Amino acid sequence: MLPKQKPLYNHATLDTFFLGPTIGKGTFAKVKFARCLMTKKRFAIKILKKSQSNFSQKLFLEEVAHLGLIQHKSVPACFRYYESVQYIKKNGQSYEVAAIVMEYMPNGDLFSYIQLGGGLHEDVARTCFRTLIETMEDVHNKGVAHRDLKPENLFFDEEFNMKIGDFGLAARFKNEKGLIPLYGEFGTKIFMAPEISVKSAHNGERVDIFSCGVVLFAMVVGVPPFNSANAKEDFLYNLIANKNFDAFWEFFEIRLKMNLSEEVKDLINAMISCIPYERPTIQQIKGHLWYNGPVLNSEGMKEALGGLKEKIDAEYWKERKQQKEAKEKAKAEMMMLLMMQKQQYMKMPLAFTGVQLKK
Ligand SMILES: Nc1ncnc2c1ncn2[C@@H]1O[C@H](COP(=O)(O)OP(=O)(O)O)[C@@H](O)[C@H]1O
Ligand SMILES: [Mg+2]
Repeated sequence: MLPKQKPLYNHATLDTFFLGPTIGKGTFAKVKFARCLMTKKRFAIKILKKSQSNFSQKLFLEEVAHLGLIQHKSVPACFRYYESVQYIKKNGQSYEVAAIVMEYMPNGDLFSYIQLGGGLHEDVARTCFRTLIETMEDVHNKGVAHRDLKPENLFFDEEFNMKIGDFGLAARFKNEKGLIPLYGEFGTKIFMAPEISVKSAHNGERVDIFSCGVVLFAMVVGVPPFNSANAKEDFLYNLIANKNFDAFWEFFEIRLKMNLSEEVKDLINAMISCIPYERPTIQQIKGHLWYNGPVLNSEGMKEALGGLKEKIDAEYWKERKQQKEAKEKAKAEMMMLLMMQKQQYMKMPLAFTGVQLKK
């Protein structure tokens, strides 16, 4: 922490930006709403404290490098990177941070919609899925694998166009010389391909296709398909690994009283196969019957998701109010405790305290 300084504004600031509420928190970084002091335009700023580990600093830097390489209409634009800048809080406290200034995605992430509204209509899901697949095709063509595709990392812009964010775990999986095998256990268990969990070398494209299959499942069903793609430990993934698809789907359809098209189930079954080379390629996904069904335009997406967005915002503000109240209550209790201690102290004979107390 840097020494406290007198804040110039009644807002937290970072260079020429006012910082608003935190809109998302990840493992290492925080994403804050921001407004440019000069242009008044909105941004999202991803902030990483310089006091965080070297490993997280390295990932942050790599994320910037990947964003620079990708630059795609369906990936939130990255406008500026600060390797080191002062983040001055409203109370004057300041920290040294690294920061990425990004395009603000006002309609939040896909996770909030699924969490609140359950499974999406297949046409809505297809609209999002097509953007996901087409974007990943371009990202893969640039030699980058995302490795953390999940609903929390898929955002919506003003017009409800979906964009793929959080390239914090991305990696180069091919260059001019050919494929680069990837190692290491990265990502989020539920969306992680089985070959990653067993710590073997993995193919960047195929692990992303697996995650896209799990995302598609979560979109149409409203819950994830399993806890982890481990056929030994997870009985639902065991059904997939043994190609016992009827029993797998029955498990969800009976409990959730839902009826999905055979085509979407067929596509998901193939994408979440435990054998990497059995998963369809992006070209094969694009040729699938379900993929080529109807999609919605921006108006249709607004109609489908706009109502949920209002509820998501109401929940967000309710939660923030509760957090603020809990913080204030804890502060009041602490003050009370300190007052009581001070009173007790003042009752003591001065000989014990050794100090002159002001009343
Ligand atoms: N450009 C953005 N606009 C609006 N919200 C965002 C943006 N980027 C991230 N967020 C929010 O912040 C959360 C965390 O950001 P993310 O980039 O996924 O960081 P992490 O690597 O910490 O998971 C996201 O799930 C999302 O809710
Ligand atoms: Mg994330």
